[in-house]
Amino acid sequence: MEYKELGSTQVKIPAIGMGTWEIGGGITPDYSSDEEGILALRKGIELGMTLIDTAEMYGKGHSEEVVAEAIKIFPRENIFIVTKVLPENLRFKDLINAAHGSLKRLRTNYIDLYLIHAPNPRIPIKETMEAMESLVNESLVRFIGVSNFNVYEMEEARKVLKNTDIVVNQVEYNLTYRKIERDILPYCIKNNITVMAYCPLGRGVLPKNQFLREIGLKYNKTAAQVALNWLIQKERVMAIPKSSKIKHVIENAQSTGWRLSIEDIEIIEKFFR
Ligand SMILES: NC(=O)c1ccc[n+]([C@@H]2O[C@H](COP(=O)([O-])OP(=O)(O)OC[C@H]3O[C@@H](n4cnc5c(N)ncnc54)[C@H](OP(=O)(O)O)[C@@H]3O)[C@@H](O)[C@H]2O)c1
Repeated sequence: MEYKELGSTQVKIPAIGMGTWEIGGGITPDYSSDEEGILALRKGIELGMTLIDTAEMYGKGHSEEVVAEAIKIFPRENIFIVTKVLPENLRFKDLINAAHGSLKRLRTNYIDLYLIHAPNPRIPIKETMEAMESLVNESLVRFIGVSNFNVYEMEEARKVLKNTDIVVNQVEYNLTYRKIERDILPYCIKNNITVMAYCPLGRGVLPKNQFLREIGLKYNKTAAQVALNWLIQKERVMAIPKSSKIKHVIENAQSTGWRLSIEDIEIIEKFFR
């Protein structure tokens, strides 16, 4: 596994972590494939994808319960848990309650990284960030960050923080969706904020891409591996592909430890411009 620095914390996180949307459910809980999800997550951890991204929203909390079950056989300190608070829970008290709910479902006494799932313009950002910071002060959360925030929203959030800073913005980023390259990515690079790329496989579309398959042939890699390698060669970027299939988990882990050539990166970027 390759590692990236989390913000400017000197903490190392894997360049490829694991997403969990639809592990334990999507917008509603799904208990039917827990076993498959648990085995996939365990395999990924064994292969070095020790960062797991979940949210109170996923499966209405059941995703967090599946994560808890998957990680219970590993030392807690070897796992980096990311979870997120819903935008409707950004009032001070609601946010604290949401964090306690996540801690309970995750069966842990700390969250490594707690993210605001998306901005809520109806709630003052100061109130929200005070709640986030108080979780850090109480050691319930190690690091804080945001998701789906634009540059203005990141700046507003950072301005009101007293003794912490956001270390991550989790945003959609993949070869077919490169909007963040205009402003969010340069801002994060300049301010030492890690970009956590969600939907890194374009929700399963990129692994089927014929052009990427052909590029991959040169390296004995698959289209999915090319798509992920393209992301993690970018400064400050790490990715969180989701897979419930052991075969895909192994494939995703092997998207690190090698590099696309500069020439191929140029060809790929021209193709997906
Ligand atoms: N913050 C936010 O607002 C937000 C929004 C969306 C997502 N996310 C996070 O980001 C994670 C990733 O995004 P995503 O799940 O939407 O999309 P994704 O990771 O781009 O794609 C997931 C899809 O790709 C398939 N897949 C995975 N690896 C593969 C491989 N090697 N070969 C072929 N197919 C493969 C999966 O199927 P199998 O399971 O069958 O392998 C699944 O259908 C989510 O799970 C979630 O944790 C966050």
